[in-house]
Amino acid sequence: MKRQQERTKAPQHVAFVMDGNGRWATQRGLPRLAGHRSGLANVTRIAEALVERHVSYMSMYMFSTENWKRPKEEVVGIFELLTEWLGDTGPRLQARGVTFRHLGRREPLPGSLLEAIDYVCEGPPASGNLALGLAINYGGRAEIVDALRSVLATVQQQEIDEAAIAGALYTAHMPYPDLLVRPGGELRLSNYMLWQAAYAELYFSPVLWPDFDEEELDRSMNAYATRHRRFGGL
Ligand code: IPE
Ligand code: IPE
Ligand code: MG
Repeated sequence: MKRQQERTKAPQHVAFVMDGNGRWATQRGLPRLAGHRSGLANVTRIAEALVERHVSYMSMYMFSTENWKRPKEEVVGIFELLTEWLGDTGPRLQARGVTFRHLGRREPLPGSLLEAIDYVCEGPPASGNLALGLAINYGGRAEIVDALRSVLATVQQQEIDEAAIAGALYTAHMPYPDLLVRPGGELRLSNYMLWQAAYAELYFSPVLWPDFDEEELDRSMNAYATRHRRFGGL
């Protein structure tokens, strides 16, 4: 009986890696930034779909601490598109009861992007349908470093435990992801949610993120529903 309940449970937190934007554009003979634009439009679509599916938490890997290695034009272009998307879509999603939080390091993001992030994060209190974590300049290793720094500043060494570290992560306000979805065909985490995904169910999809639609979302959630999560037990 218990096992059956575990199987049919819907995920509370779905974490996404928005991967495949560049290839999506290249396949169409478009500049990579066109793929990033379509990818952002798809974040809106999937956030709305999760509200309809009563999922409470979503986190979206949008720019990693390693993505600074890309050509400057692409990095600057991504930041401009993110700034624009936050300004346009933030209020639209807030009207649907979405609240925003930034997951990542603020430095050295440009001021205009930080303002756009703060604008949505400080938005009007929503009905709390969906909390959306924006992983921008996010790195799992950097997050653990930052968490350790803040824990060591406030907690005695012998008091450091998993709860203290969890409470100092960027995601302290969210439960750990139940389902981690990576579209785009790569079978790796790329430094996403290293601590939090310890027991996440993983779903890898060959579909490039801009094409990751509600049907593919339901496929991932249906796969999740069939998994038996043991957490090391039986
Ligand atoms: C977008 O996907 C996610 C970011 C890193 C900004 P990519 O830009 O990595 O797309 P692909 O993997 O090259 O297709
Ligand atoms: C992961 O995608 C980072 C984001 C989606 C923000 P990448 O495209 O950067 O990952 P790798 O380089 O293929 O591992
Ligand atoms: Mg990629």
